[in-house]
Amino acid sequence: MSNDLTSPRYLVCVAWPYASGDRHLGHVAGAYLPPDIFARYQRLRGFDVLMVSGSDTHGTPVTVRAAQEGVTPAEIVDYYHRRFVQSFKDLGLSFDLFTHTDTENHWNVTHELFLNHLKNGYIYLDRQQQPYCLVDERFLADRYIEGTCPICGYPEARGDQCDNCGNTLDAVELIDPRCKICGQSQIEVRETEHFFFDLGKASPHLAKWLSEDKEHWRPNVINYARQQAESGELRGRAITRDIDWGISIPVEGYEDKVIYVWYDAVIGYLSATREVCALKGEPEAWWDWWKDPASLSYYFIGKDNTPFHAIIWPAMLIADGRGLNLPYDVPANEYLNIEDKKISTSRRWTIDLPDFLSRYDPDPLRYALTINAPETRDVNFTWEEFLRRNNDELVATWGNLVNRTLGFAYKRFEGRVPEPGELGEVDRALLAESEAAFERVGAELDAVRLKLALSKAMELAHSANRYLNEKAPWAQIKTDPAAAATTIYVALQVIDRLKVLLNPFLPFTTQQLHRYLGYEGDIFGNLYVEEVTDARGTRPVLRYDGSQIEARWEPTTLPPGQKLQKPAPLYKKLDPGIVEEERERLLAHLARAQS
Ligand code: MF3
Ligand code: ZN
Repeated sequence: MSNDLTSPRYLVCVAWPYASGDRHLGHVAGAYLPPDIFARYQRLRGFDVLMVSGSDTHGTPVTVRAAQEGVTPAEIVDYYHRRFVQSFKDLGLSFDLFTHTDTENHWNVTHELFLNHLKNGYIYLDRQQQPYCLVDERFLADRYIEGTCPICGYPEARGDQCDNCGNTLDAVELIDPRCKICGQSQIEVRETEHFFFDLGKASPHLAKWLSEDKEHWRPNVINYARQQAESGELRGRAITRDIDWGISIPVEGYEDKVIYVWYDAVIGYLSATREVCALKGEPEAWWDWWKDPASLSYYFIGKDNTPFHAIIWPAMLIADGRGLNLPYDVPANEYLNIEDKKISTSRRWTIDLPDFLSRYDPDPLRYALTINAPETRDVNFTWEEFLRRNNDELVATWGNLVNRTLGFAYKRFEGRVPEPGELGEVDRALLAESEAAFERVGAELDAVRLKLALSKAMELAHSANRYLNEKAPWAQIKTDPAAAATTIYVALQVIDRLKVLLNPFLPFTTQQLHRYLGYEGDIFGNLYVEEVTDARGTRPVLRYDGSQIEARWEPTTLPPGQKLQKPAPLYKKLDPGIVEEERERLLAHLARAQS
């Protein structure tokens, strides 16, 4: 299985959230939930999986936020990092390690890559024109400056990237720039010295790699990457900044500058792999994850992160010179709007994850965000749809199937799986459908088409409901108890299989169902918080151990006679009143943000 050389192992890389604000539902749908579903599925297949990420603790997002709040950057990082750890745990995100970029290990690995890039001629020193604010007497990097995008004309583009067209920018290219600190435009261009990463030097290698088989990539991602690599326009990019919050430059004489946040953040995938291997007592095992060609790396991100994962990080891996694996796939997602409007954290048009989980259970959210996932186009989250998905699909289709079958078996068959009689054609057809579902749903999961995978699993729940309605065991029991036993036996088998098929999507409630079906064991895994201390300090990390999970991605057989547990509903019906209530809550936030 996992030691078989030909079987794949999956390195599941998840975008590192800036530790400067809560994650909202758009982030969850775009970058956080999909990798968890994918990772849980591959673990069920028996493959080795390592899912890593952590808080992105550096850069101007953090310092700007700290200044707004009147606290230090470290305090902002502590606050949001803890909230990520807690809310990701509450949502059941099975990170083998969710760490952060202010660890000693991450600093060391970042220095290691920087020095490799320097040695291999991919990093050079140059002078650069940078906007300088005459009022604040400082250089304005990245988020300290805003202006009109030179590419698409969006008036609120930031110094490093335009949120509208997604292009990465140089701060001096902005039209009509404004300083974000003082709000004025007393800006002049001054010269400063920086280290540059030579993307141009990497571009032939990138173009060659991107020309190889990428059939499995999403069209938007591969088209963008190929266009960039072949454009001949990739140039050096400054990877240091004139600010005082960030990782030091491992070269003498540059103590007043730090490494650019994006350069160190993407290195997190590598450093976190090394950290988790060390925590498991196998400090050299990371090589297998990064050099073995059977180790496939998937990068789960929102579309605004595409340039960094499809071009810049691969270029950095090439430039490192040790032959580290390039991304196998970059399944970037489109955006999630809320109630027909683009999410905006500054205008408070958002639903934050901790806030959502303070009122609703995690599995209904996981369901709603996956059945309408932004995989190929922007999607819209509305409370009305959330209500409908919960009440009509989770409760009425799947929950009800479980409830009536288990309830009936519990009451009428002495709380045990009944012994079936001879199976008829209809019984066999449903069982065959449930067996085939493992291939059908699995193929979609392998291709990271999670929305389709979930709807195919739900089709089986629909078939099982139709089967029950047709067979009507509640009538059968009066005239032909043996036939009723067969029906309930078949329905229980299908529910037991759906439990596995739905487990990657709905890990909490399928664990509960596992118990109702009379199993003792664990299909959720152990997700826990651990305090880790190193030379830079102590912070909590999230860890996952799925080694005790007994389920496999294959048709199960529930033995006749197995004792069931007294069932309770897996899902709660939501009151239609929440729709208005929640809309008002959104509008109230908006009003407060604007006043
Ligand atoms: N911190 C970035 C954001 O929140 C994402 C960084 S992903 C990384 O948009 F892997 F590159 F770090
Ligand atoms: Zn733009």
